[in-house]
This record gives sequence, structure tokens and C-alpha cells, in this order.
Amino acid sequence: MKKINAIRGAKDITPESSPLWRYVEELFARVSGEFCYEEIRTPIFEKTELFARGIGEGADVVNKEMYTFDDRGGESITLRPEMTASVARSVMEHTLLRQGALLRLWYFGPFFRYERPQKGRLRQFHQYGAECVGSPNPESDAEIISLAENIIGAIGIKDYKLLLNTIGNDSSRAEYRKALVEYLSTRKSELSEDSLRRLETNPLRILDSKSESDIAVCAEAPLILDYLDEESSRHFESVKQALDACSIDYEIQPLLARGLDYYSHTVFEFQSDALGAQDSFGGGGRYDGLFRQIGGKESVPAVGFAMGVERMLLILEETGRLPLLDNSPRVYVIAASDALKSKALQIANSLRARRIKTNVDLLGKSIKAQFRESNKNGVKYAIIVGEDELSRGAVQIKNMDEGDAGEINLVDLDGFDFH
Ligand code: HAM
Repeated sequence: MKKINAIRGAKDITPESSPLWRYVEELFARVSGEFCYEEIRTPIFEKTELFARGIGEGADVVNKEMYTFDDRGGESITLRPEMTASVARSVMEHTLLRQGALLRLWYFGPFFRYERPQKGRLRQFHQYGAECVGSPNPESDAEIISLAENIIGAIGIKDYKLLLNTIGNDSSRAEYRKALVEYLSTRKSELSEDSLRRLETNPLRILDSKSESDIAVCAEAPLILDYLDEESSRHFESVKQALDACSIDYEIQPLLARGLDYYSHTVFEFQSDALGAQDSFGGGGRYDGLFRQIGGKESVPAVGFAMGVERMLLILEETGRLPLLDNSPRVYVIAASDALKSKALQIANSLRARRIKTNVDLLGKSIKAQFRESNKNGVKYAIIVGEDELSRGAVQIKNMDEGDAGEINLVDLDGFDFH
């Protein structure tokens, strides 16, 4: 019968790489905790309408990339392509945000987008992200960016750029959008097919198109920075000041617009040359309009970001900075003969009960092969269970680094310090 493989663009995390994933997951929890962010977990699927209204029908993520299906009850369901809309829904549903309070949330998990798989682009990928909900103040934009920077630093990524821009408040953006569409309409013949379509639906998205002819057209386009009203410029200036105060380097990228419709004011992206075409490994921004968009009675100011975990790991790999993780057992219990295999298992289990990582042979290997195995594994101690020693209530213990071996009574083994 034909072999069944995983779905294209969906990757297994095999035992070889799972220690790395566990390591980064623990790092996400630790750094988020230091910033007083609390973890939130939401379902992997939601009603399609949440993303359609939250992210916006004009966004590629919604109109081209969602995994949407009708469930058996006929309801349209979508596998989450991102988390911000789900977080906003959950905050409203459980009234997590009290009047005048602030919510600091972080998350980690799998997300789904039907994109053409390539290096750094998957159909199931993982994000770490954070959302700061309840404050309109520019310091919250700066805190969110600072948290992202700390995550990047803790993971060990060195060479990258933080690109920063504002897309202003609704009225500034509407003015700009008009000017942009007017300009782009004069150069329609030079635009890519995708951009021609976006001219109607999501013209700001054309600004970060990857097509060469679009880039040339956009190089001469009007800039949002010239269309900001007083409130929008004040917010942007204060965000920059707060970032300066936190010694965070950034580059203003006036063409940065981001792909999701819910943004207003601050937008930002983290880019690395190590990624090639998929150069962005994280991004975010302020989204003061999202809560209303998905049915909230009042608007809730909020700002957040998400990092692509596979892309961060890819950068580490490409730049030779993957952490060296020691996953080797501390102890290997060797049975000198088949008759002693269950005794070896019993000793191994007593060490495991003391939380000492212990390996033992289950394949009926010879004593020679077990020694070879314990050498190969980077084990610190080998315990050799032999007939003679056992008759005296003892086993042999060997320090693999120092090479010296000696006998130890089983009762003393219980108190032996293996660290
Ligand atoms: P996003 O820019 O769509 O933002 O995604 C964030 C990151 O997820 C990207 O920078 C990238 O590293 C990763 N990513 C996205 N799609 C893929 C893919 N197909 N394969 C691998 N990695 C991918 C958001 O999702 C917003 N929710 C961020 C945010 C939070 N804004 C405010 N709060």
C-alpha cells in the first residue's frame, strides 16, 4: 500500500529537534514572565467570521491563505492564521480587561496559512507573540518592542534590523490612501497583477510588494509620514522617544505597511538577511480598531507582535548560533549478563525516581555493546551490575570522565551524588 506522508508545509518536530523547541518554549515563558506578561491559550479553530472581520477581507491572509471548512453542523470554521483576533475575542468573551486596567498577554503555538511552502514558509508554523491590551500610551508600544527585542536577544539572534513606521490614525490613513491610489492609478501599466487587484482592495499592501516593477513605482509614491495629523505625529514621535530612552535601535521604513487590516499608528517588523526572500521573522503594531471590528461596544487600545519560531531557528542555524544542548543521560546502568537485565532496570528506575536521567538497555545488548552505548551517549556515570558484586549487595560505578571505577554498596548508591 502507498506510504502516507505529512501534509506539504507541515513539519514534524522529531526527537532530534524537540530539545531545541523545549528550550525556546521555556525561554519564551521566562522572558515574558520577566515583563509581567501572562500566558493565554485559545482554541486552534474559530468561527471564520472572527478572522474575516478582524484581519479584514482585503488581507491576503484572509482571502487567499485561510484553512476554512464547514464542520458537520454546517458552521464555517477556520484554523487560526494568527492569534491577535483570537486574543481580542477571548478578552471580550471573558471580560478579562477591567475598566482602567491593563492586560499583558503572551502566547506560543501552531498557526495555519495556505501558502506556497518554501524555506522559512510553512503551512503549519509556530508563533510566539505578545499583546499589551488597554493602553493608548506610546510607552506600551515601546514596551512591546522591547519585549520582542529581549526574546530575540535571549534566543541568540545577533544581526537583524528593526524597521519602524506609522500608518497613522484612521483619518490620516484615509487621506493617505486617497493620495496613494491617485498616484498608483497613474502608473497602473507598471504594476504587477497582484498589485492591480490590491489597488481596489488594500492599496497600502502594494507598498511592501516584492515585485521589482512595484518596488520601482513605490519608490516615488507619496509617503504616509507627510499625511499624519497632529495626533498621529505626536504618537509616533513619542514612540521613537521611548525607544531611544530604552536604547533600542530602529530604522524608519516609510513604506512599511504590514499585511493585516487591523493596524493603526505604529507598525514594525524584524528582518534578517539570513532568511533570503522571507526576510521578516517577526512583526506587529498597534491595533486600536480591532475590538470594535469584531463586535466590541467600545474601542480598546492595544499593541502587540508575533515572531515566527521556525524563522528564528532558521536564522540561528544559518548563522551558526544554534545552542548546544546537552540531552545526554547522566547515568547508564549496564547489566553484565541477561539474567541481570531486570535488576539493572530496577536500579535505573530507582535513580529515575530521584530525577536522575538514567538509561538502561532494553534490546538485550552484550556487555561490550552496552559499554559502547554508554560511551557514545556522553554519560557521566556507568553502573555495572555484575553477579559477584551483587552477591555482596554492591555494584560497580565508573566515572566516565575520570575513568576510575570502584565498588559501591546498593544502600550507598541511594545517597550517591551523581551531579
Ligand atoms: P504576521 O506578520 O502575519 O503578524 O506574522 C508574524 C510572523 O509569523 C512573521 O513575521 C513570520 O515570522 C511568521 N509567519 C507568518 N506566516 C508564516 C509562514 N507561512 N511560515 C512560517 N512563518 C510564518 C501576525 O500574525 C500578527 N498577529 C502579529 C501581531 C500581534 N500584531 C499585533 N499583535
